[in-house]
Amino acid sequence: MQLSFIGLGVMGYPMAGFLAKSGHQVTVFNRTESKAVRWCEEFGGDYASSPSEASKDAEIIFTCVGNDDDVREVILGEKGVIHGLKKNAIIVDHTTASSVLAQELNDYISNIGSSFLDAPLSGGQAGAESGQLTIMVGGDETVFAEVFPVMNNYAKACTLIGKVGSGQKAKMVNQICIAGLVQGLAEGLHFAKREKLDIKAVIDAISQGAAQSWQMENRWQTMIDNEFEFGFAVEWMRKDLEIALHEANRVNAKIEVTAIVNEYYKEIESLGGKRFDTSSLIKRLES
Ligand SMILES: NC(=O)c1ccc[n+]([C@@H]2O[C@H](COP(=O)([O-])OP(=O)(O)OC[C@H]3O[C@@H](n4cnc5c(N)ncnc54)[C@H](OP(=O)(O)O)[C@@H]3O)[C@@H](O)[C@H]2O)c1
Repeated sequence: MQLSFIGLGVMGYPMAGFLAKSGHQVTVFNRTESKAVRWCEEFGGDYASSPSEASKDAEIIFTCVGNDDDVREVILGEKGVIHGLKKNAIIVDHTTASSVLAQELNDYISNIGSSFLDAPLSGGQAGAESGQLTIMVGGDETVFAEVFPVMNNYAKACTLIGKVGSGQKAKMVNQICIAGLVQGLAEGLHFAKREKLDIKAVIDAISQGAAQSWQMENRWQTMIDNEFEFGFAVEWMRKDLEIALHEANRVNAKIEVTAIVNEYYKEIESLGGKRFDTSSLIKRLES
């Protein structure tokens, strides 16, 4: 298929690579052009100088940028994807953004004869680089069926949750679940250190039981070693939690621990940890 990929960041760069490696014709756009040049050298596709140029012949256009404003810019902006979009083209947004934006884009795009899916990701940099992402999708069933085999090139699970916006809402659930969990893990490890326990022995034991989690298995060692210069950045988590808190307010849902953890992340940012991994919550307790 003729595909377009907008946004070659930590996530988008390897994802677009999987599409090219699976035999599709991929044209990429990246705001910082040097990354697009490097991508073409590595994967052999083409690059364009604007999102609209990258998308003009594409059957499916993927976007993976930062936040709501960035998505608006690359899709609806002056040189955005919608200018010159082919009829019946499908835009798939992998950015973690608000569900309100997903609905707004869907209304606009369906009015000009094309389709939209919101499709945020989970699995981080490692998941993107190994093609093992979890994708939560909102949109029409027949459109999803068309895009599924293409997205599957970089996914271990790709699930249609419901109508447009519900992919983003599922991602909010994901982030709400993680926020409290990481704080709990930070407190457990902090307590174990104060008790001078053999932390490896504790983790070996409790990771076999009810306290087990991905965060525990993959982050306990770096948390006690005070290493945070990797992984999923606190500033992205803050963006995601603000989106979730806003949505919770709209539907009158109580996400109290999430609100507290969001304040803790603000403290991590003021300690200079904007780009630290989210497991850096333990830093507050130890400082
Ligand atoms: N990293 C993770 O572990 C992870 C996991 C799950 C979900 N996500 C979500 O996935 C999305 C992308 O994350 P990432 O880690 O790939 O981010 P990133 O490395 O910071 O990359 C962001 C990409 O978006 C482009 N961009 C940003 N604003 C733009 C604008 N206004 N116009 C044009 N291009 C723009 C950037 O271009 P430049 O190269 O020019 O800066 C870059 O290519 C975010 O919504 C994030 O929350 C990330």
